[in-house]
Amino acid sequence: MAVNVAVVGATGAVGEEFIRILESRNFPVQELRLLASKRSAGKKMRFRGAEHTVQELTKHSFQGIKIALFSAGASISREYVPYAIESGAVCVDNSSAFRMDDDVPLVVPEVNPQEIAKHHGVIANPNCSTIQMVVALKPIHDAARIKRVVVSTYQAVSGAGLKAVDELQKETASILSGKEGFKRNLFPHQIAFNVLPQIPQSNAFLSNGYTSEEMKMVDETKKIMGDASIRVTATTVRVPVIRCHSESVNVETEKKITAAEVKKLLSKAPGVTVLDDAANQLYPLATHATGKDDVFVGRIREDESIANGINLWIVSDNLRKGAALNAIQIAEMLL
Ligand code: A2P
Repeated sequence: MAVNVAVVGATGAVGEEFIRILESRNFPVQELRLLASKRSAGKKMRFRGAEHTVQELTKHSFQGIKIALFSAGASISREYVPYAIESGAVCVDNSSAFRMDDDVPLVVPEVNPQEIAKHHGVIANPNCSTIQMVVALKPIHDAARIKRVVVSTYQAVSGAGLKAVDELQKETASILSGKEGFKRNLFPHQIAFNVLPQIPQSNAFLSNGYTSEEMKMVDETKKIMGDASIRVTATTVRVPVIRCHSESVNVETEKKITAAEVKKLLSKAPGVTVLDDAANQLYPLATHATGKDDVFVGRIREDESIANGINLWIVSDNLRKGAALNAIQIAEMLL
């Protein structure tokens, strides 16, 4: 049965991807309501060959809506998710607003689909870096019990929205053309030809010295995997890549598991593609993962510095599996 679907933040980086994926997966959409700020009201966007007009988000936007997909930031979600629920919609929220609430399921369909049924009107979509990591870690955890994870990320600028993509492109062009005095609006330092160990770009640092993005990886991994005993430490880094997050992940397990066993496990895992052929220089790359659905894993090695350790290189499209695709998979399961 087709349902009415609202996309909140339709004009954003994730919003555009929502529309593309609803279309390509043939999601049973009766009416698609595109919502954004006042600035975008009246803008036209295409869905299934027809033009749709973007409307300003208000508390009355959700009448008749069955599924509301939110990706307009945490403060918008905090304010408008309650109105959507009141109107009878179930919300899949891509922001961090409700992720750690005890009564809100935090779901990656390949890992903990059973949590979806416990919702009270909102299901949280995890942080993009966490999603791609847990998809690859779950089969290893099931086979050998993960004790500890050390992760460093190499995150694309699109994770910070379309304005961030624009800033990287313009700054790169400005530097290449030899002009001086490029005016940054978003990143605290030059992002072109640089690497920034700070995510998000503002109000990032917590009292423990970690960034909020790093602590999301710690807390969300435990919640999604349903195992608070997994120790996680993260360093999250922004790199001048437009799309796809890459991660170096070191895993320590309770039981010994060999690199060959991990390769075999991950080759069969849902949502994972193993790309690991050192002789042919084959490993996951951001350029390759762009626009694809899977989480790509390669450089699978045993950590020779400890008894039971594995190193992995994990790449996925942050706007697809890291955001819009994961949310739409949740919505499909809801239906
Ligand atoms: P708009 O394009 O009208 O500003 P991104 O993550 O790429 O920066 O996109 C953020 C999304 O959130 C955009 O669709 C943006 O709409 C939307 N958004 C931002 N602020 C508001 C707001 N106050 N009300 C509704 N949507 C908003």
